[in-house]
Amino acid sequence: MTRLVGLSGSLRRNSFNRSLLKEAVRLAPEGVEIEPHGIEGVPLYNADVEKEEGVPEAVARLRTAITSADGLILFSPEYNNSLPGVFKNAIDWITSNPSGGGKVLSGKPVALAGTTPGGFGTILSQNAWLPVLHTLGADIFSGKRLMLAHAGKLFGDDGRIADEENRDKVVQFLAAFGAYVSVKG
Ligand SMILES: Cc1cc2nc3c(=O)[nH]c(=O)nc-3n(C[C@H](O)[C@H](O)[C@H](O)COP(=O)(O)O)c2cc1C
Repeated sequence: MTRLVGLSGSLRRNSFNRSLLKEAVRLAPEGVEIEPHGIEGVPLYNADVEKEEGVPEAVARLRTAITSADGLILFSPEYNNSLPGVFKNAIDWITSNPSGGGKVLSGKPVALAGTTPGGFGTILSQNAWLPVLHTLGADIFSGKRLMLAHAGKLFGDDGRIADEENRDKVVQFLAAFGAYVSVKG
């Protein structure tokens, strides 16, 4: 079994990116399991807090989950043609060196996914993640990326992706990343 962590980078109650993560969990191919996580409870990074109080519980949980997984998928919104600050803040905490997080993403297969009500499917957010992941030594999966536009029309009342074309994009993306991670493992 290939075990992946899916991390959604939005705090919004009705987040489209969290919905996409939930749909990915349901559409994962045989032999691939996606454990869904969020960034709720991660405080603003503060090096003093890290030094004096250690790692917050929410961060420690994410570190453990990611460390024990075979790969990671970031489900990232796009803010101002870049990545959201709250998501970057969570990744900064998770990978912070003084408290032992410096190697959490080192060599870890990481894929990018996202959806937006806009027409360009979070492409600029995904581009903005690349130097961050490169700096952290992640094994950035470049075989496919999942970018779904017009998120407002994407999900039906049952929370599922309504149309076959977009559902198929999720399936193809997960199959490609799952295969990449399993060959590596
Ligand atoms: C501050 C801010 C900036 C945004 N900038 C962009 C943007 O550059 N491109 C885009 O496609 N959507 C942008 N959006 C719209 C988000 O894609 C939209 O709010 C989306 O629902 C966020 O993801 P979520 O539903 O997972 O929370 C922006 C939203 C906010 C709040």
